[in-house]
This record gives sequence, structure tokens and C-alpha cells, in this order.
Amino acid sequence: METPYSEKVIEYFQNPKNVGEIEDPDGYAKEGSPACGDMVSLFIKVEDENHEITDIKFKSYGCASNIATGSIITEMAKGMTIEEAKEISWEDAADELGGLPDLKTHCSVLAVDALREAIRNYEERQGIGEEKRETTLDVVRKRLRHVMNPMTGLDVIKTDLISDIEVEDGIITVEVDLEEDHQFASAVNEDIKEKLEPRWDVEEVVIKFVGD
Ligand code: FES
Repeated sequence: METPYSEKVIEYFQNPKNVGEIEDPDGYAKEGSPACGDMVSLFIKVEDENHEITDIKFKSYGCASNIATGSIITEMAKGMTIEEAKEISWEDAADELGGLPDLKTHCSVLAVDALREAIRNYEERQGIGEEKRETTLDVVRKRLRHVMNPMTGLDVIKTDLISDIEVEDGIITVEVDLEEDHQFASAVNEDIKEKLEPRWDVEEVVIKFVGD
């Protein structure tokens, strides 16, 4: 059967590298694509002294392009410092894979975003790099742009699912415009906490469901 994929994409799709989970990771991300709704999780172990990525694994619920990109970028990132790994772009991944169809760019971007988010998560936990900054209202809003509204596939800020945010003395209170017993309430609750709790200066995240 003819496919739009290079031989290398097919090889990496059929025999993906670094698939799985890392228990107790130093950095973790779960990213979703607004374009197709697919998801990727990525886990890293990082050497604290020189910030080298010593282990990396991913799990994809995406397509062949996404799995092949996740596979190649995890191979590339292993052994790099986090600063070096942040520079890996979807274009680098596509080049390594012998090209990807234009229509599949977002799949490759999704895998690269997951890597960058896992590194960010590590920096947030450590309070280093850009994430040394204090958790302000603006930072919270930016983090919540990575939480998907399951009813639309777009983020919870853009879709006005968040009706209020307060940040005070390390306690973040987020009001969500959903009923407490809504079928998606626990998923939204978990995703918001996942994005905010790891930050070095956050003590507690309180979610209130205020929909009626
Ligand atoms: Fe969703 Fe490729 S179509 S990740």
C-alpha cells in the first residue's frame, strides 16, 4: 500500500523507541493537540547536577507521524542537557525522519511540545531557569492554556471555562464553570492540578466548581 510517509517514519512507527512510562519522573507532561484531539505523555529523569536527561519515555495516543516523532526526539534528547533538548524543533525531527507530509505538521509539533513541557515541569519543580519566577496570575493563566476543555478540544482559558482565579500566599484558587458532578469535572480538576501543583512556590491548588 502506498503511504505519504518515508521509510524511516514507517520504521519508527512500527518499532518505536523509548515507549512507556517512568515511575517517579523528574519531569512529566501530558499534551493534547487542538487540531486532532490526540494526546501524548512524556516522562524524563534528569541528573540534578548538570541537568542531563538520563532517561526519557513517551506514550502516544496519536498517529504514525506523532509516534515516529516521539520516538526520534526521545532518542535525540537522551544524554542532552535540558537546555540542549529545548532546542530540538519539529523541523529537526522531520529532517531526521526524512520528511513528513505538510498535513501532519501538528502531530510532530505535539510530540515536541510534550518534550518542552516535561522540561518545563522539571524546571517548575526545581524553581530553576525561566520557572524561577514567582507564580503570578499571569503565570497561572498561561499554564491553564495547556489544559484542554474536554467538551471543545480547545483550552480552558480560550473557551471561558475558568470564571475566576486568585493567587495568594502560595494558594491558588480556580473557579471552573462546571457543575461539581459534571462528567468531565474530575478530569478537569486533575489536569488543572497537574499544571499548577508542581510549581516550586505553590502550596495548594483549590478548585471550585461553580456551574449551575
Ligand atoms: Fe493526531 Fe497525528 S492526527 S497526532
